[in-house]
Amino acid sequence: MNKQKFLKVVNPILGLMLTIQILGMTFGRMLPIDPELRFGFHKWNGWALGVVMIVHISLNWSWVKANYFTKKKKG
Ligand code: HEM
Repeated sequence: MNKQKFLKVVNPILGLMLTIQILGMTFGRMLPIDPELRFGFHKWNGWALGVVMIVHISLNWSWVKANYFTKKKKG
């Protein structure tokens, strides 16, 4: 799988995990879920999110280099 195809898979997963991570702790208490299960899920989803974020940044590293670490010509 090339980078672009991989990013098309990774990005929606990243967005979904981030949304669940934030909404789960902000509004999760309104749901009939055992708090221990909710905190446990938040903890492991949080760590997994960190890993997926690193994968996302690695796949976009050429963009990061081109936009932050390359001097642009003036004018
Ligand atoms: C990108 C967003 C977030 C990430 C990556 C994240 C990650 C984590 C991780 C890894 C832990 C476990 C820490 C440990 O083991 O000591 C944790 C715990 C916790 N987080 Fe988050 N979190 C995020 C957003 C939020 C938000 C939006 C809230 C609240 C509105 C929140 C509330 C908490 C609480 C209350 C705990 C402690 C849970 C417990 O007692 O087990 N987090 N978070």
